[in-house]
Amino acid sequence: MSRGSSDLTVDLKYDLYEKSVQNPENDMLFLNQEFERLRKRRALTLREDFGGTGMLACVWGSQSPDHHAWAVDLDQEPIDLGKKRHWSQLKDLEKERVTYLHGNVLENRDFKSDIVVAFNFSYFIFKERSLLLSYFKKVLEGLEKDGMFAVDIFGGTECHQELEEETEHEGHSYFWDCDSYNPLNNHCTYYIHFQTHHDKKKHLKAFHYDWRHWSMAEIVDLMQEAGFSKVITYWEGTDEDGEGDGIFYESKSEENCESWVTYIVGLK
Ligand SMILES: C[S@@+](CC[C@H](N)C(=O)[O-])C[C@H]1O[C@@H](n2cnc3c(N)ncnc32)[C@H](O)[C@@H]1O
Repeated sequence: MSRGSSDLTVDLKYDLYEKSVQNPENDMLFLNQEFERLRKRRALTLREDFGGTGMLACVWGSQSPDHHAWAVDLDQEPIDLGKKRHWSQLKDLEKERVTYLHGNVLENRDFKSDIVVAFNFSYFIFKERSLLLSYFKKVLEGLEKDGMFAVDIFGGTECHQELEEETEHEGHSYFWDCDSYNPLNNHCTYYIHFQTHHDKKKHLKAFHYDWRHWSMAEIVDLMQEAGFSKVITYWEGTDEDGEGDGIFYESKSEENCESWVTYIVGLK
């Protein structure tokens, strides 16, 4: 994510972002369930790569006195905001268990964790195959011997169309704007805009993303090539109205739809 160029204050920008796109409780539920199912023990340590404000790391670290988390980000702005918004809300002992690291996810770390996550498609920032492969290899090195890597990914028939999708939230609207897509190399530009309801003002380009849209098959291949012993693809179940029900299950074959978001897990 780049910071974009909107007129919003930093606090409001991240507040609207988190309310629109983040759900650390759901992510944590998925991670806890899948780690326990696949590894037959509880996961205790988590590294949140591309952590931004480290919201998931803070929720993770507060689970119990045995839980620890690290959030890694290149940009000091979301780190400072995250400390102010989330870390400061933790109890003293919880604070000791959550660490923000200002740095690059490609750097070596002097600790290992049970789980590493790269969420909100942040690894799409690596456009070259060799770079993404080196990142996945670094993740593998940073995992405990029975560790698990989880990423999210999106796709669907609509995802490369230049269109702006609006989602209503309490107090604001969120816009996901696919601005450009190059079919020759899958490079794409997305923007997030917000509209605050109280003044009806639209705040353009609060965040911008310059990505390569990787496919599920490419990510599976790359994780296998990086050395993950098993790579698992998931799909989201649907409710009676055909909407996603937030429950993800292992799957290898599904019917495509207009738009989907799901997880991929790599086991060390
Ligand atoms: C899309 S945001 C993700 C924030 C949060 N994890 C989430 O799920 O919403 C991507 C973040 O990755 C950071 N970032 C980009 N390249 C990075 C790198 N090589 N190493 C560490 N952080 C990076 C950006 O500063 C930005 O905060």
